[in-house]
Amino acid sequence: MKKLMVNIDHVATLRQARGTHYPEPVYAASIAETAGASGIIVHLREDRRHINDRDVKILREVVKTKLNLEMAATDEMVAIARDIKPDMITLVPEKREELTTEGGLDVVGLTKKIQMAVESVKNKGIKVSLFVDPVEKQIIASKEIGADMVEIHTGAYSDALNEKIQDKELKKVIDAARKGKELGLGVNAGHGLHYHNVRKIVAIPEIDELSIGHSIIARAVFTGFEQAVRDMLRLIKEN
Ligand code: PXP
Repeated sequence: MKKLMVNIDHVATLRQARGTHYPEPVYAASIAETAGASGIIVHLREDRRHINDRDVKILREVVKTKLNLEMAATDEMVAIARDIKPDMITLVPEKREELTTEGGLDVVGLTKKIQMAVESVKNKGIKVSLFVDPVEKQIIASKEIGADMVEIHTGAYSDALNEKIQDKELKKVIDAARKGKELGLGVNAGHGLHYHNVRKIVAIPEIDELSIGHSIIARAVFTGFEQAVRDMLRLIKEN
C-alpha cells in the first residue's frame, strides 16, 4: 500500500494569518501520525511565511514517524538541516513571490549547487529527495548527484483543465516514476493532489509515498466545522 506523508504548512498559515499561538502545527502532526501518516512534511521557507524555526525544532522532538523538511538548497537551510537532523529533506526551488512551489528543481542546470547541498546533508546521515518535474533527464541527473529519492511534481497533472490533458500529464508521471525505480531511486509524488484526482496517481505501482497538504487541511475545515461550532456553543450555554 502506498504511504502518505502529510504536509502541515497550512496549519501554520492559519496561525500566521492572525498572529495567534493556534492552531499549533505540532498538534496537527501528532493527529496525522495517529491517523496513519507515514511522515510529516514542513516547508521552512526563507520568508518564514508559515512554518518557523521553532516549529521545526519541536517537530524534530515530537514526530515519531519521519520528519521531512522541505527546503531550498541555500547555505542557511543546509545549516539548519544539518543542525536539526530531520529524517529526510526534500530540496525544492523557491521564489519569494510565489504562492506555493511552482516548478520542479532544475537538477540538470544547477548540478553543482544542488550537489553541494546533497552531499552536505547526506554527510549527517539525512536522506535526500529532489522535487523534480516528470522529465527523464531530471530523474537521471538526480541519481547522478547522489539523491536517495525523487519527488515527482504532480502539479501539471493536478491542474489539467480536461481529461485529455490530464492523461497526457499522467503519462509523464508514470514514465518518470518508472525511470526513477529503474535507477534504484525511491519515488515519491505530490503537489496539488486532492480527493478527486489522487486515484490515478495511487494506481502507479512505482510510487512509494505521496506528499499531500492543502487538500487535507481544506477538508479538515469541513469535517471538523460542526463539532467546532458545538464546542463553542457548549461553552456559551455553560455560562
Ligand atoms: N510537495 C512539494 C515539494 C510541495 O512544495 C508541496 C506544497 O508545499 C507539496 C508536495 C504538497 O502540495 P499540496 O499542498 O498541494 O498537497
